[in-house]
Amino acid sequence: MTTKIIGTGSAVPEQVVTNDDLSKVVDTNDEWIRSRTGIRERRIASAESGTSHMAALAAKEALAQAGISAEDLDIIILATSSADHCFPSGACEVQAAIGAYRAVAFDISAACSGFVFALNTVHSFFKSGIYKTGLVIGADTLSKLIDWNDRGTCVLFGDGAGAAVVRAEESGSFTMTMGSDGTRGKALECLARTTGNFLTGTKPELGYMTMDGQEVFKFAVKTVPEAIHTVLSESGIQIEEIKYFILHQANYRIFESIAKRLKVPMEKFPTNLERFGNTSAATVPILLDEMNREGKIQRGDKIILAGFGAGLTWGATLLEW
Ligand code: ACO
Repeated sequence: MTTKIIGTGSAVPEQVVTNDDLSKVVDTNDEWIRSRTGIRERRIASAESGTSHMAALAAKEALAQAGISAEDLDIIILATSSADHCFPSGACEVQAAIGAYRAVAFDISAACSGFVFALNTVHSFFKSGIYKTGLVIGADTLSKLIDWNDRGTCVLFGDGAGAAVVRAEESGSFTMTMGSDGTRGKALECLARTTGNFLTGTKPELGYMTMDGQEVFKFAVKTVPEAIHTVLSESGIQIEEIKYFILHQANYRIFESIAKRLKVPMEKFPTNLERFGNTSAATVPILLDEMNREGKIQRGDKIILAGFGAGLTWGATLLEW
């Protein structure tokens, strides 16, 4: 039993924010941002285009490409760290928006590893024979969690959503790995609410994202190659057989370091962070959708998806298209 992606979709807000735009908000410049990260511009959501809205748009595109109806879906998992509401979940809002009335729907929180975690979770349901058709979405609106006075983080992120329709099939490769290390969670935090109630006499305060960039950098360049080696060795597939490594789009220099450690040419690491920045759980499915629609991935191709981020969490999936 394996899991195949049979349709992809994506949605990003219309509003483009360039590095020059940001240099009017904080003490930064285009040269610094480009040379340290590779990012040129990002999209920022309006009040109307929140996480669930973008997720539903991406989902509709993926369903249309898969050629199936929303009512065929057994399960919807939305990976997000920035759902529009505490509840109902974003996945339930997507379910309602697309009319997937039969599907069970829930969110998972694994930050930038979220799409890979969600895909691997659906695969596990398929493998146990519980469900056969699923929708996996990564969507985030980190612009609302960012301290727009903090130049160390605000230049890195953007908003967006990507989706994949998946189906249980008989043959094909699919191997996965996931990991978490909560002891290093402080490297990347967003403490959204403090405890406050009528007993404490304090009001809940909203917090913003904080990041130890160098700690996250070191973590990514060590963990991602290890995860890639794990899925390769479990599949018995050689690294040369992998057509593309679709990594979480955080930083171009992270890709260079990972490519060097794996001894794989940079051409096998497609990027779109130049245009969208780091959209957290959405980076992998947005890039996957672009590659798919441009015809760069063909049936039978073997690709690896890999994510890393807050938690700290990491994960990889090797799959056959
Ligand atoms: N513009 C100009 N200067 C800046 C900016 C900015 N936007 N941000 C920081 N600086 C300054 C700092 O203040 C510092 O100045 P100082 O030397 O006078 O103190 C200098 O630039 C160097 O700062 P560093 O933080 O050491 O810069 P570094 O080379 O480490 O690059 C970066 C920072 C780009 C964040 C890098 O560490 C990185 O990419 N880390 C990985 C982060 C990541 O991938 N995060 C996301 C993954 S998880 C998730 O997606 C949720």
